[in-house]
Amino acid sequence: MLRFVDRMATVTTRNLILNDKVRAFSSSKVKSLVENYFDLNFRIHGPTGEEVTKGLDLKDKTCLITGANSGVGLEMTKCLNLCGCTVLMACRNTYAASVVAKNTCLKPDSLRLYELNLASLRSVRKCSDDLLNKEKKIDIVILNAGIFGLPWTETVDKLEITFQVNYLSQYYLLMNIEDILADNARVVIISSESHRYVTLPFNEILTPTEETLSLPKNKYSSIKAYNISKLCGILAMHNLGYRWLNTKKTVISAHPGSFVKTRLCRNWWLYEAIYTGMKPFTKTIAQAASTPLYCATSSDLNGLSAIYYKNCERCQESDLASNLQLSFRINDLTKDIIRDRVTMSELPVSLSDTRQKHDVEHNIEDSLLTNYSN
Ligand SMILES: NC(=O)c1ccc[n+]([C@@H]2O[C@H](COP(=O)([O-])OP(=O)(O)OC[C@H]3O[C@@H](n4cnc5c(N)ncnc54)[C@H](OP(=O)(O)O)[C@@H]3O)[C@@H](O)[C@H]2O)c1
Repeated sequence: MLRFVDRMATVTTRNLILNDKVRAFSSSKVKSLVENYFDLNFRIHGPTGEEVTKGLDLKDKTCLITGANSGVGLEMTKCLNLCGCTVLMACRNTYAASVVAKNTCLKPDSLRLYELNLASLRSVRKCSDDLLNKEKKIDIVILNAGIFGLPWTETVDKLEITFQVNYLSQYYLLMNIEDILADNARVVIISSESHRYVTLPFNEILTPTEETLSLPKNKYSSIKAYNISKLCGILAMHNLGYRWLNTKKTVISAHPGSFVKTRLCRNWWLYEAIYTGMKPFTKTIAQAASTPLYCATSSDLNGLSAIYYKNCERCQESDLASNLQLSFRINDLTKDIIRDRVTMSELPVSLSDTRQKHDVEHNIEDSLLTNYSN
């Protein structure tokens, strides 16, 4: 009996030692697998926003971010706030945004909230007036808010909602607050690689109409509307780059990353499923914030304007997006669309000033490519 108990004890001890070895082996394997995953992920998808802005002192800077309460916008708010930057969060629901910001940001005292519903030009005007009344100077503007995947929806301004929210209203906001932009202000327009998939018939490139941009119901697909809005963002960048050629203001367009699992895909279960499935293989939200933040803050880009960035590197946008003549035509059309919908008193000077249009028409042929920065 004693011998049997002794034998059992030896077997149990041996099993325990074996178990420990197996556990130690598997935990080190899991650890190294996890480390390898993060290492690979870093090498493929690059740094996070926090890594890009680490050590920056932005105490004397003020940055306006649209759609700052969610996804990439919230991550950028968090990183800039960490560097001491005053962040003006322009959001649809300011109460919800303030709760999110308090839970996310380490220095909530340097955040200010502004109500902005981009689906209404009246709300954009109201937000611009609030900004003009309360802020003295804005150093950085990040036009980030965006929507994707909605069924065809018309806004109160009788425009297709994706076009209005992603492009037109944010352009209008920027024009309204131009007077308080710092002399060396930097504007970052969040675009997307999806701008490459827009094809326009030749006649619409020559003479785009409202229907080219604000798709009517019978020509609508959510992907097409999104791609067009993102193309418009890059074209607006070129137009502003030209307009600010003799100033220190600069404008850059940035692609945060593809299929980043944010609330962007919330409007249809299929997009939600695709983005969820892609999540392990794409940038995290923290990584998606890096390129826009690099464009907004890096001193490497001082003096550079009208360029498109992805993965924190300069990248050539599509032929259509770099078509400067088209950028001027779209700009004129944008102004006309806004003029048709707002009263004269609501028009910013830059939109009501017709001189600029003629200057542009005279200068466009000879000066663009030679003068354009980079
Ligand atoms: N995620 C990607 O894979 C990806 C890829 C390329 C480009 N982008 C671009 O990155 C930007 C940020 O998107 P995200 O991925 O971070 O998506 P997100 O989490 O859905 O954030 C979008 C933001 O836009 C705001 N917004 C939507 N409609 C608005 C309106 N009518 N008025 C005011 N604000 C409105 C949202 O506010 P609410 O919370 O109130 O809705 C939210 O704060 C977008 O421009 C998007 O097109 C994203």
